[in-house]
Amino acid sequence: MSVPIPPAINRREVIAGATAGVAATGLPSLSPAQAASPEMPSSITVSFTVNGEARRIALDTRVTLLDALREHLHLTGTKKGCDHGHCGACTVIVNGTRINACLSLAAMHEGDGVTTIEGLGHPGALHPMQAAFLAHDAFQCGYCTPGQICSAVAVLGEIGAGVPSHVTGDLTAPMTLDTAELRERMSGNICRCGAYANIAEAVATVAGRTP
Ligand code: FES
Ligand code: FES
Repeated sequence: MSVPIPPAINRREVIAGATAGVAATGLPSLSPAQAASPEMPSSITVSFTVNGEARRIALDTRVTLLDALREHLHLTGTKKGCDHGHCGACTVIVNGTRINACLSLAAMHEGDGVTTIEGLGHPGALHPMQAAFLAHDAFQCGYCTPGQICSAVAVLGEIGAGVPSHVTGDLTAPMTLDTAELRERMSGNICRCGAYANIAEAVATVAGRTP
């Protein structure tokens, strides 16, 4: 039995078909003049707190929080991996909640409190989660590590574990977290080096459990 061969479709026909499809939705299309409307500002000034410091920056409205942190405030500890919300390398904490900074426009963060890896601790005064990552060898190349640590710190808040004053001290908060849940909560942070076992150990140690 012979299979019918469809007629060749050229580029002009594809474009014409797509245009007809848009027209069929009944949605009005923007004229070039409307698209460049002066009523739509192309820049904005954002005031927010970053790592405890009040910052005010003028930005293109299309700038992501990730690019605002890295390119405008030069806080390059937050990494750009995929820039599409897939890898978690850009994780920062905003008002106590972890977000992917590459998926959020800086203009949306007026008045917010942003914490990046630089704001968690520094050499000589590491955050317990940073210390735990070191103690457990929870990284190889380190590219995903700032996002992993910010995410892990936020997980402590999510599970009500609090943050202990040091890694192996008394951890009295009641734990409702099992290892599988911990791994699930950290699953948005990809590590191409595959350091997952040690990352889980580090997070579990700070959260008061052995994995
Ligand atoms: Fe944001 Fe990958 S860079 S999720
Ligand atoms: Fe290399 Fe995670 S340590 S990507």
